[in-house]
Amino acid sequence: MQTTPKRYTITAALPYTNGPVHIGHLAGVYVPADIYARYQRLQNKDVAFVCGSDEHGVPITIKAKKEGITPQEVVDKYHGIIKKSFEDFGISFDNYSRTSAKVHHDTASAFFKKLYEDGKFIEEVTEQLYDAEANQFLADRFILGTCPKCGFEESYGDQCESCGTSHNATDLINPKSAITGNTPVLKETRHWFLPLDQYEGFLKEWILKDHKKDWKSNVYGQCKSWIDDGLRARAVTRDLDWGIPVPVEGGEGKVLYVWFDAPIGYISATKEWAEREGKDWEPYWKDEDSKLLHFIGKDNIVFHCIIFPSMLKAEGNYILPDNVPANEFLNLEGNKISTSKNWAVWLHEYLEEFPNQQDVLRYVLTANAPETKDNDFTWSDFQARNNNELVAIFGNFINRVVVLTNKYYDGIVPEASDFSEVDKQTLKELQAYPAVIASSIERYRFREAQQELMNVARLGNKYLADEEPWKTIKTDEARTKTVMYVALQIASALSVLSEPFLPFTSEKLREILHLEKGENELIWSDVTAKTELIKPSHQIGKGSLLFSKIEDEQIQKQLDKLEASKKANEAMNKTVEPEKETIQFDDFTKLDMRVGTIIEAEKMPKTKKLLVLKVDTGIDVRTIVSGIAESFKAEDVVGKKVTVLVNLAPRKLRGVESQGMILMTETAEGKLSFVNPSEAGVENGATIN
Ligand code: 2FM
Ligand code: ZN
Repeated sequence: MQTTPKRYTITAALPYTNGPVHIGHLAGVYVPADIYARYQRLQNKDVAFVCGSDEHGVPITIKAKKEGITPQEVVDKYHGIIKKSFEDFGISFDNYSRTSAKVHHDTASAFFKKLYEDGKFIEEVTEQLYDAEANQFLADRFILGTCPKCGFEESYGDQCESCGTSHNATDLINPKSAITGNTPVLKETRHWFLPLDQYEGFLKEWILKDHKKDWKSNVYGQCKSWIDDGLRARAVTRDLDWGIPVPVEGGEGKVLYVWFDAPIGYISATKEWAEREGKDWEPYWKDEDSKLLHFIGKDNIVFHCIIFPSMLKAEGNYILPDNVPANEFLNLEGNKISTSKNWAVWLHEYLEEFPNQQDVLRYVLTANAPETKDNDFTWSDFQARNNNELVAIFGNFINRVVVLTNKYYDGIVPEASDFSEVDKQTLKELQAYPAVIASSIERYRFREAQQELMNVARLGNKYLADEEPWKTIKTDEARTKTVMYVALQIASALSVLSEPFLPFTSEKLREILHLEKGENELIWSDVTAKTELIKPSHQIGKGSLLFSKIEDEQIQKQLDKLEASKKANEAMNKTVEPEKETIQFDDFTKLDMRVGTIIEAEKMPKTKKLLVLKVDTGIDVRTIVSGIAESFKAEDVVGKKVTVLVNLAPRKLRGVESQGMILMTETAEGKLSFVNPSEAGVENGATIN
């Protein structure tokens, strides 16, 4: 085991490019990876922190089909959105690439070819699931069925989302096509398989013997169970048309399995970065002095701990991951985050509601990180952590220090005189924190590390509260100067130690204290090594508010948004009205329905539901009383094109004769909506047959 690696190759799971990213992504993968990368850079380590968009695979094809656009259009759209979200939240990738890039196609093709030429694959014609109606083989997410391991009924062809097991599509019980719902048939096709069974010995040695002590127990446990169950050959090619073409004879019309090409994306992203920076990429992947780490969510464990390491081993020249600190999942207000149900906090939307408050979200997600079990994000916890921790502890301490230094000394750091026992003890405690925080980060315990960071701010708050410089200023000038000097040392330490967790705050604090990055910048080890982090007679700035209170109304707005998603989902799941009894054609022709336009509207006095409308039916202008006032204001319906049943017997409503009926339907949220014949050229009076 390496103790002091020189170089760190840090990867974060490549997100599928079929939608924007949400808080679950950030909490599970990207914030912990970023904390780790920033921390290692602060230790002066050589870091390559890489990621990119995972642009192949069935989910993207499905999204394209649904939206009636090409897969390329799907990935172009979301690549931009995802990349921007990561930048906005300060995820400090050295390179954010994409798997549609040429460098990746070349790298993945060459990797496959090398394994092919070295005889590492089994090439075989086997029977695979085929949808005769859709005229296509059913791989991965194109097929659903019962998981042979845990019995989950909606497992995908390549992996069960419930138990995480990776399997072959033909293992599914009761498979059904996700395209047509049909039961597939079996059809012969040629593919290339990676014989994982041949790597069992290597994996046992590598994971079970070498790493069991420092891998997270959830990761180690899953690996052990899969290895103990026995591994089987897995196809690494697919009969699909979206992906990287299989680059060997007989591979025409086939592509690489997305989980074969995606992890190679880490290598391509490193190559692209190295080329840009004039560096050599190879040591980051081939030198034993490099520490390779994969930050992922728990659903990716099998691919990063079993399949990709076997691929790297088969290739022969690569190092293997030193650790795979996978996280569990984050839920939202008690429910699983779901893209299709819009049960999520999307990063781009968060920033619209809470501009410049990236660090608040980073903080809350780290405080609740699903490190050892699934965890829950709630808006009330978000508010409480901001108001009671960031504002009341961290922000309050900095604010006091900066305001008092400006008030008493025009912002100039005062000279300390005799240190009391409390001062000495406080400075000693401060010096111990970098090692304490570092130890937690190095063991991938980011929640614990962040708590220790907050303990530095707590130390400062307690020190000020006990020493009360606002009182001593009236009686003891020298003592006040010493207290403010000590408090300023704590504030300076916070500006460095907060950087991995709260990068925007750290930068702001450095600016406030005039300790900006540059030639004489403060570094992590200074906090322990130097007795003085900020010197007497140094001038600090004035601005001091790092965080601001989040009000109840802001939180309520977010809760309302989720409630609307819930209602929309409920409405969507509402059972459809059963069909009415059959009528004859003659019955239908009795209905005289016309296109009309509402030309006047007013609320019926003393009623909640009724509007009195004047409608131009093309035949005449008539009065119709309609029960739509809960969905529309009178002024909003004037000018609307509507469908009118004109030969309905007139009836009086609240004394007004209604001469017909406007046809309505209902939206998923239960809001009424006009049946609106909006095609150009359809005039009032046109019949509806
Ligand atoms: O689960 C996912 O979102 C995958 N796109 C992760 C890929 S990680 C890597 F191997 F590229
Ligand atoms: Zn399962």
